[in-house]
This record gives sequence, C-alpha cells and structure tokens, in this order.
Amino acid sequence: MCGIVGYIGHREAYPIIIKGLKRLEYRGYDSAGIALYDGADIKLSKTKGKVDDLEKRIASEISTTGSLGIGHTRWATHGIPNDINSHPHYSNSGDLVIIHNGIIENYEALKKELIQRGYSFKSDTDTEVLINLIEDIKKNENIKLGKAVQIALNQVIGAYAIAVFDKNKPNEIVVAKLGSPLAIGVGEDEFFIASDASPFIEYTKNAIYLEDEEIAVIRRHKDIKIRKIQDDSLVNPYVQELQMNLEEIEKGGYDHFMLKEIYEQPHAIKDTYRGRLLANKGIIKMAGIDDNIEKFQNASRIIVVACGTSWHAGLVAEYIFEDLARIPVEVEYASEFRYRNPVIHENDVVIAISQSGETADTLAAIKLAKSKGAFVFGVCNVVGSTIARETHAGAYTHAGPEIGVASTKAFTTQITVLTLIALKLAKAKGTISNEDYRLHLNELALIPEKVLEALKHDEHIKHIASIYKDAKNCLYLGRGFNFPVALEGALKLKEISYIHAEGYPAAEMKHGPIALIDENMPIIVIAPKKGHYEKVVSNIEEIKARQGKIIAVVTKGDTSVTNLADHTIEVPETLESLSPLVTTIPLQLLSYHIAVMLEKNVDQPRNLAKSVTVE
Ligand code: M6R
Repeated sequence: MCGIVGYIGHREAYPIIIKGLKRLEYRGYDSAGIALYDGADIKLSKTKGKVDDLEKRIASEISTTGSLGIGHTRWATHGIPNDINSHPHYSNSGDLVIIHNGIIENYEALKKELIQRGYSFKSDTDTEVLINLIEDIKKNENIKLGKAVQIALNQVIGAYAIAVFDKNKPNEIVVAKLGSPLAIGVGEDEFFIASDASPFIEYTKNAIYLEDEEIAVIRRHKDIKIRKIQDDSLVNPYVQELQMNLEEIEKGGYDHFMLKEIYEQPHAIKDTYRGRLLANKGIIKMAGIDDNIEKFQNASRIIVVACGTSWHAGLVAEYIFEDLARIPVEVEYASEFRYRNPVIHENDVVIAISQSGETADTLAAIKLAKSKGAFVFGVCNVVGSTIARETHAGAYTHAGPEIGVASTKAFTTQITVLTLIALKLAKAKGTISNEDYRLHLNELALIPEKVLEALKHDEHIKHIASIYKDAKNCLYLGRGFNFPVALEGALKLKEISYIHAEGYPAAEMKHGPIALIDENMPIIVIAPKKGHYEKVVSNIEEIKARQGKIIAVVTKGDTSVTNLADHTIEVPETLESLSPLVTTIPLQLLSYHIAVMLEKNVDQPRNLAKSVTVE
C-alpha cells in the first residue's frame, strides 16, 4: 500500500506532488507528507490524515518552493497512523530523506544493530530503519547515495518502492523497487516518480516501469541509470508510451469516483469485448487464449486465485466455466491458497484475477502455482502491473482506471472477460451447441444496453436506500450464478457504509441465518426470472412469514416476487449465465446511496486501500 510521488526538473515540485498524492490516495490515506529541497535545505511537513490535511498544515508550516521533492500517502503497516510515523523520514543526520511503500520484514534486527552503533529512532516504522541503514553504509564506506542504497537493499528482506534524496546532492533522486510498483515519467529535462502513472499523465506519456530488484539514479538535466540491485549489472531503460488520458482519472461531474465508475459500466463492458467479440461472425478472438488453447483444452481443472471482489468474479466464473465448458473449477482465496500446501499439477490452469494487478496474496499464489509447473493466466485491469507481467499469458479487462476503493466496473468487466474465455473453450471443446453459442455471443453483445437500462432505476434505488439507511444488519440472498452477486452486494454495503451485511445462497438461509430475520431485517434477494426462480420465490415466502423486509431484484415484468416483496428493482431479462452482469448494478447503487446518506467517505472508506500490496 501507500502512494509515492517525486519530481526533479525545472518546474515547482510542490503542486505536482500534492496533485499526484491526491490521485494516489486510493492506495492509502491515513497520513501524508512531503519533503522539498528549496535550494538550501530540506523542507518537510507531514501529518496524520488525508492530503487535504497535509495541504492545510503546509500552508502554515513550510515554504513550498523548490524543483525537487518527494511525497507520500500512507496506509499504516508498522506503527499507528500519527504525525511521527508519517513519511517522509529523515536519517539521523538530517541529510537524507526517504519515502517508502512496502514492508521491511527484518527491520527489528537491523534496528537493533543500528541502535548499537548509536542511531536513535523517532518513529515506530520500518522505513526509518532503512534510511538510517543507508546513511550508516554511506558514511562508513564513503560512497555515493545510489551505491549506499543498493548495498542497504541487499541486506533487506521484504518489499519496497522507495525514493531517497540527499540535501548535499540536490540534483538526484534514487529510487528502487521490489514487490511494490514504481513508475518513472520521462519528460523534457524533467522526471516524475510515482506508484502509478496517474500523477504525471498530463506532463508526459513516456514511462519506465521499474522491474523488481532494480535501482535507478535519476539526475537533473541528465539521465537515468538503472541497475540490478543484486549484481550491479546495467539495465537498458525501456520507455513505453502510455495510453491513459487525464479525463479517465478525474470525476467528470460525478460526486464520487464510485458513482462515475458505476455509470461507466456500459462503456467499460463494451471496451472489454471490443475487438474480441465478433458476434455477427460467431467468433471470439483472444490472443492469450488462442496462443495457449491446448493448455486450456487439456487442463484437468482450472484453479482461480483472487481476493475480495475479484474472488467473487472468480466464483461467477466457476458457474460459467463448469456450465458451458464442462471444466472443473476451484475458486481459492489467494491468501489461503498460498499457505495451505495445495495440490497443484502441471496440467492445472491457474487463473489469477486482480483489478490492480498488485495484490500481494494473489501475486504470491501465482508464484507458488508457477513453481509447481502450472500454467498461470492473468485477468488484470492495470496494464503493465506486476501480476500482468508475472503470469504466463493473460487478458486485460480494459475497464479504464478504477479509483473508488469499492470495485464496481472491475467486477463486471472481469466477468465479461471470463465469460468470453468460457465461451471460447466451450466452442473449442464442443461442449456447447452452435445455437447456444451464437445465442450467448449475441446476448453478451447486448449487455451494455441492458446495464444502461438497469442504471435508469437509480432514483428508485435512492428512495429504497433512504428507507433502509439506518439498518444495522442486512442479508443478501441469491442462487446459482447470482449467489456470488449476493456476496458482492454484501461486500459493497459493508465496505462503504459500515453496515454489517452477509451474503448467502438463498437455500442456505434455512440452515442458520433465518434465525436473524425479524421485522427490522432488510433482506435483498436477487431473483431474476431465469434460474431457480420458483425456489427463490419459496425462500421469499419463508422470509415474509417471519416479517423480514424484502428488497428484490427482479426481471422486468415480474409479478410473483413483486407481489410478495416490499420493494422491487427491475433489471432487463438476459441469459441466466449473464445475469450477474445486470443484477449486480442495483446492488452497487443501493450501497452507494446508503453510504452517501450516512455521510461516509464513499471513495476512501476507513481502514481500506485500493490495492493491497501487503499480505
Ligand atoms: O486489485 P485486486 O482486484 O486484486 O483487489 C482485490 C481486493 O482487494 C478488492 O477487490 C477489494 O475487495 C475491493 N475493495 C472490493 O470492493
């Protein structure tokens, strides 16, 4: 977690860094800080709280001149969120200053040694240990900063993306990476540093993504030298041109990124299948699958590894793959998979799903699967992310940047990609009739319009939200393909409104959760016409008999559920296997409106971060 930003060049660094930190707040927002070199000294200011709080503090604390600086927005790992633990951190001499995203696992041992050598520490952080280790090496060996950082990092166990500068050498910044992302924007006689490219996209589209175990010395008016940390070999920088644009990372008139991203879904789903789904020709083109079709066809099973919402998309995929392509699927929490000595065969195909492509547990699960000889396929949104690079092949979701911490368009676009893969395999394996295959292709092509139609019920959903906003608990029920949608709906409500919510397969209600139902319990039932409809109606009757309040997501024109439920929200009819793509929309909106009415921070819910790069 944590977002890092840096600048060295001919402009004022402060506005670039502050704006960049705001864009990176999705990575953590419990404290923030900045260090600028003003031509004579380092000016450092940091605080518990958000970047807005930092701005206020800076206004009364430091001058903001200088064309070199680094900034940080934190998601605490070592040391509670307070002013002292915030980054940047000074070395004991006050000459060096550092920002860090990641965890130094052996920091306690290193700290002990440094204390014995006379160093003292103000914070509880692992980062302050690292900067003093660098200082110690630099002084003892009388070497340049870059070399000292390199030697220090060879002693470190853990993950990091760091940026360091020395006030006595104010024409260079040293950066390095292992496990946490770090991009360098290359402008005209200026360089930008950031956890992703969003802080510098309006200045340059040329970026270098550092690879793991690389260190770069970035020098003003000069160049970048990249080396491998372990063996000191020089690396030829690969400068890539970014496709992202500024509008994509701004709110565009919406009150929150989450709402913008919910409304982007018709477009995002179209972008996901654009060039892949040729419905009128009956073709699905996906290079990552075409090139590895035998691996998939011969797979004894598919193992999906993911976390959070991506795990829910994996559960939907389980239903789709088994139903259409008749391949056994196991869906694993990456965090469990990596530590439970799982049985993995060489003819297993592992699909890793991750919006950010940086989730530490998913990455570790991929590494484990690869070490056992499995073929690993990635489904990521962020282009060039670590998971996209670590997997043998993959397919991007092309959803565009998702900034709101609560995943919305990531979920529906992941399901879209996974459906395309399942259909492709079903066709290749002959497990789907031509007619059914064409039907699925045509129906998938219509999903963006149907999502758009589902979004039109926003005002009605807002009204329902106003009735139930003060609920203390909520139950979400769904069956078959819509059971994962129930889990996802509950997760959305929990994470942004802090209302306790549980998702269950509707029939499981009888085995426990039914005891919770009384007249105060809102129960959101996903009850589209296709797929166990009669059974769900029976479940609704059972709820009704216990005075539970029923909010049902139904197919347009429904009567049976509508007669029983307290409220219904209509979605357009589609195939059962594609229904999660439309039934999930009202649940996203319901959570959103409840959270707004409760005055919660929708885009940055407490304790969370967009990308969980620590285990
Ligand atoms: O970037 P990833 O898809 O790997 O992230 C996985 C989860 O951290 C993420 O889906 C999380 O659960 C979201 N906040 C849910 O809205």
